Amino acid sequence: MRPNVNSGFESDQWYAVGGSAALAAGRLMPATVLESELVVWRDSGGTVHAWHNRCIHRGLRMTLGFVDGDTLACRYHGWRYGAGGKCKVIPAHPGMIPPDDFQIPAYAVCEHAGLIWASIGAAGDSVDFDGPGEHLRFCRDLVVRRAPERVSALAKRAIFRPYGDGEDDLIYEHREIAPSVIRIDARSGGDTATIMLAIQPITADRTGVHVLAGGETTDERLHYAAWARRLRWFMENPDAANSSWNPLSIDHS
Ligand code: FES
Repeated sequence: MRPNVNSGFESDQWYAVGGSAALAAGRLMPATVLESELVVWRDSGGTVHAWHNRCIHRGLRMTLGFVDGDTLACRYHGWRYGAGGKCKVIPAHPGMIPPDDFQIPAYAVCEHAGLIWASIGAAGDSVDFDGPGEHLRFCRDLVVRRAPERVSALAKRAIFRPYGDGEDDLIYEHREIAPSVIRIDARSGGDTATIMLAIQPITADRTGVHVLAGGETTDERLHYAAWARRLRWFMENPDAANSSWNPLSIDHS
């Protein structure tokens, strides 16, 4: 079924679904890309997997299950699935070797620039863009109640002031360094900084934004985390009165 999302967001692209550091070994998380539900999990060896979020037995969501070593177990009857989504163990039939087609659809997944990326279509081998630099780190995930194409357009207007900046003129540049990945470089006085926004099309009216930002100190990281919080509010209310620093407007008080 074709997702009900603008055609600018194709299924054969990579989309960020969360921060790598937010998914520890042995943990799982839900994600949605183009209205497809995924279970994203990291096995005990550190490898990340992204699968269709349904058990092939009776259809329970795999996000209700749990990680057991290098397998993901369904919470209902305990079927265990390993690499590639293949069923490895059926507890009710301990002597049975599950057939090869007992398999949950597995999606392409990789980690790059501090983010986990998945593709529900035929994406290339890996995410293809120059890394934003080792000085960037995962800052925040946002879910914006707006259409992906609208959020993408707003992301290309988003501006910020580098930490430590005074009131010097702000110079900024936006670049789309991969489909749905926007890099913003800002300079003011002697301060420079970069923020990267990776857009995740969730549904026709919900969009994920994964923020990478700089920050050597706690204060600096808090500065960009606060900016990201404001970004979500202004993306949902882009015509709001500009009574305070507006990430979508150079005019601010
Ligand atoms: S529904 Fe998952 S094991 Fe039965």
